[in-house]
Amino acid sequence: MKQKTCILVGAGLRGMEIYAPYALEHPDELKFVAVAEPDPVRRERFAKAHKIPAEACFKTWEDLLEKPKMADAAMIMTLDRMHFKPTMAAIDRGYHILLEKPMASTPGECVTIAEAARKSGKLFLLCYVLRYTPFFSTIKQLLDDGAIGKLISIQHNENVGYWHQAHSFVRGHYGNSEKESPMILQKSSHDMDIMLWLAGKDCKRLSSFGSLSHFNSENAPAGAPLRCTDGCPHIDTCIHSAPALYLTDNIKWPTSAISNFLDYESRLKALKEGPYGRCVYHCDNDVVDHQVVSLEFGDGITAAFTMCAFTNEISRTIKLMGTEGEIRGAMEKDEIKILRFGSRESKLISLKGVSGDHSGGDIGIMKEFMRLLHADGSEKGRSSAEKAIQSNIMAFAAEESRLTNKVIDMDEYYKRFL
Ligand SMILES: NC(=O)c1ccc[n+]([C@@H]2O[C@H](COP(=O)([O-])OP(=O)(O)OC[C@H]3O[C@@H](n4cnc5c(N)ncnc54)[C@H](O)[C@@H]3O)[C@@H](O)[C@H]2O)c1
Repeated sequence: MKQKTCILVGAGLRGMEIYAPYALEHPDELKFVAVAEPDPVRRERFAKAHKIPAEACFKTWEDLLEKPKMADAAMIMTLDRMHFKPTMAAIDRGYHILLEKPMASTPGECVTIAEAARKSGKLFLLCYVLRYTPFFSTIKQLLDDGAIGKLISIQHNENVGYWHQAHSFVRGHYGNSEKESPMILQKSSHDMDIMLWLAGKDCKRLSSFGSLSHFNSENAPAGAPLRCTDGCPHIDTCIHSAPALYLTDNIKWPTSAISNFLDYESRLKALKEGPYGRCVYHCDNDVVDHQVVSLEFGDGITAAFTMCAFTNEISRTIKLMGTEGEIRGAMEKDEIKILRFGSRESKLISLKGVSGDHSGGDIGIMKEFMRLLHADGSEKGRSSAEKAIQSNIMAFAAEESRLTNKVIDMDEYYKRFL
């Protein structure tokens, strides 16, 4: 197999830790030849791991993408608000592209990227990693095989987890919708995407409700200071205590997000000075902590989606109801149960042995990207720009519905951005 080459834009958690290790594990298939990353520690770490010479290390995506094309593919792994411009520049340069979700920060930008990707004729995958999990792939196959007859309705839950909400959507990057994205786009465009894929029909209309109910100053316990480490009287009892979450023996995610250096002193310093040491009731967050979306797809298929911070575990749970039976699934348990009406027996599919983040979706998309890259982009993937744009548009529409109290007709909504 001929080795393919790639450039990386943004050597952060996703770029450096989730996708790039594939090149180190499969050097015959992939090699990174350049990186753009403003953080010098991250840039040097990446360059060292992938043996990238100094002249191919850049501070920003602009510095890298103004150069002539220097590899087969570009991975764009910057934060949400920095997807549009580097992606357009990389398409312009003729790279095959793997872009982190969401596609971009406005519906108009998404339409522009999707159109440019289509015209380029190159491979373009958006990291809707759930489509590549054995769990959802199995459910999709069961539906296609008619295991429950004709699909009528979907109930889908994104159980965010109370500490995950506090980490990512209160203290972390994604707490403030003006700085990054509304939560339905940032977190649950994955879920819009998976419901769209499983329904197998376009979304016709939707409505949404939700709000930020808990993580605000009104709910701060008496005397809570701005930071947990500022002598908070509740430090030993608060379920959101930053030291209890980040100063343990576990230095994997989410702890790995708080500092480039993970020794105890560096982590304590990060809590005293950085965003992750802030009291969850005294942050600049404005994204919702619970939201529901009701959707109607073609053929009258309906779906009810709930995203909620207040769950003990981080998980996705789903029920698909068809004319001849039901499928129930719990993604993090990798279990799927099929119940046929009229039968006393149910069938349990246990996908034990699935490993990796997002129930195998992260490695799944990387493998698929490599397979398609080796086919030189002649084949479209499961999450190509033209397929995945609808999920992004659905998320924007859900946010508009939540803010305006209106049912959104998807055809009319979409036309506004063409
Ligand atoms: N597919 C998924 O399931 C999934 C999961 C988590 C995050 N994400 C998405 O992945 C993206 C990255 O998230 P992350 O957690 O890796 O964030 P991160 O902050 O760890 O990484 C982003 C990196 O981009 C770098 N950067 C900033 N400005 C830059 C510039 N001008 N040029 C080049 N690089 C620049 C930052 O320094 C940082 O290292 C986000 O869009 C996020 O929504 C997707």
